[in-house]
Amino acid sequence: MSRDQLSDLLEEQQSLFAELKARGVKLDITRGKPSPRQLDLNRELLSIRVPAHAADGQDVRNYGGAKGLPEIRAIFADLLGVGVDHILAADNSSLSIMYDLLGYAMLHRIDGAAEPWGRQTIKFIAPVPGYDRHFAICEHLGIEMIPVELGEHGPDMDEVERLAADPSVKGMWVVPMYANPSGAVYDEQTARRLVSMPAAPDFRIWWDNAYALHHLTDAEPRPLPILQMAQQAGNPDRVFELASTSKITFAGDGVAFLASSTGNLNWYLSHAAVRSIGPDKVNQLRHALYLKDADGVRQLMRRHRALLAPKFGIVDRILRERLGGTGVATWTHPSGGYFVTLDVLDGTASRVVSLAKEAGIALTPAGASHPLHHDPHDRTIRLAPSFPSEGELAEAVDGVATCVLLAAAEKLLG
Ligand SMILES: Cc1ncc(COP(=O)(O)O)c(C=O)c1O
Repeated sequence: MSRDQLSDLLEEQQSLFAELKARGVKLDITRGKPSPRQLDLNRELLSIRVPAHAADGQDVRNYGGAKGLPEIRAIFADLLGVGVDHILAADNSSLSIMYDLLGYAMLHRIDGAAEPWGRQTIKFIAPVPGYDRHFAICEHLGIEMIPVELGEHGPDMDEVERLAADPSVKGMWVVPMYANPSGAVYDEQTARRLVSMPAAPDFRIWWDNAYALHHLTDAEPRPLPILQMAQQAGNPDRVFELASTSKITFAGDGVAFLASSTGNLNWYLSHAAVRSIGPDKVNQLRHALYLKDADGVRQLMRRHRALLAPKFGIVDRILRERLGGTGVATWTHPSGGYFVTLDVLDGTASRVVSLAKEAGIALTPAGASHPLHHDPHDRTIRLAPSFPSEGELAEAVDGVATCVLLAAAEKLLG
C-alpha cells in the first residue's frame, strides 16, 4: 500500500474502532473454558447415584486407593493406549500433577538424578508458542526455559536434540495433540526422536495430552502410544503422560490421570502419599459410571465437537473476511483442541490486545504464549473461542480484526 492508501485504511479503522467502543461491549475470549452448553451435556453427572463401593469392593467413602479406581483407570488406559497398570487416576487437575511432579523432582531425587533438581541449575525446553501455565510453573520454581519454535508437526527437532545433549537440560513441555495455542499435532517421527534422543538420565518429558480426545473434524486420530515408544527406544522413564476430564465433563471437577513407567509411578506415589491420604474416589466412581467406557467418552466428545466446531468456523470466516489477503495477519486452522493462534504484524500484538481491551474485548495478554511473557516478535495472540455464544464470539473476533488492522496501519505509518 502507498502512504495515502495506508492513511485511508487508518482513518477507516479508527472510525470502526470508535463505533466499536461506542457499543460498550463486554466480551471475553481469554481462556479455554467449556461453554455453559457444553457443561449442560453432562447434566446427568450432577444427579447420578454413586454407590458406596467400587467394583473391587473398595469403600469409596474412605481414605486410601492411591492409584485411583480401576474402573476409571481402565477407561482412560483404553483411550490413551496404555496398560491399566501404567496409569493412575488422581483428583481434579492434571496441572496439579504436573506441578507436583516438578516440585517432587526439585525437592527429592528423581531416578537418574545425582541430586534434587533444586540443588542444581536446570533448564527446560519450551516449544513456543506454548501453554502459559506450563511456563508459569517453571517461572514459579525458578527454572530457566529455552524456547524452541513449534511447527505444525512438532518443534524444530534438530534444535531440541542439540539442547537435550546438555546435561543441565532436565525437562521439556509437550502438548502433543492440538497444542495450546497453535493446534499443532506432533507426528510419529517427532515423537520417536523425542523418546530416543540422547539426554541426561533424569531428563523427562511432560507429555500433556490435555486435548487427546478433543477432535474438531471427522478424523479422530488415536494418541501416539508414547509410553510404548519410549520403552522400545530404551528410555522407559522418559515420559510423564498427563490427561484429564476437564474438557470432557466439568472443568475443575473432573478426574486427572498420570500414565508412565512403573518406576516413575512408584516414585510419584512415594511422594504423593505424603501429600495426600488418597484421591476423591467418589468422583472417580461417578465418572466411571457416567462415562461407561472408552466409546462413551468418544460419543460425548462428538457432542462437544458439534458445539465447538461451528465456533472455530466463525473465527476462521471472520478473520478471512476481514484480514485475508492483507498481509498483516496469519492464523492457525486447528483440527482439534481449544485455541487458534493469531499472528499479527511484528511489533503490534501488545497494541492489538490493549486496543481490544479499550473496546471491551478481553484477550489473553500478548506474550502469554512465551516463557516469561516475552514474545520477542510481539506477534502472537491466542484466541479462545469456546466460552462465548456464537453471536458474542462473532462480535469479538470482528472487533479484534479491527484492532489488528488499526495497529498495523499505525505501525506502518509510524
Ligand atoms: C495444555 C493444557 N494442559 C492442562 C490444562 C489444565 O488441565 P487440568 O484442568 O486437568 O488441570 C489445560 C487447560 O487449559 C491446557 O490447555
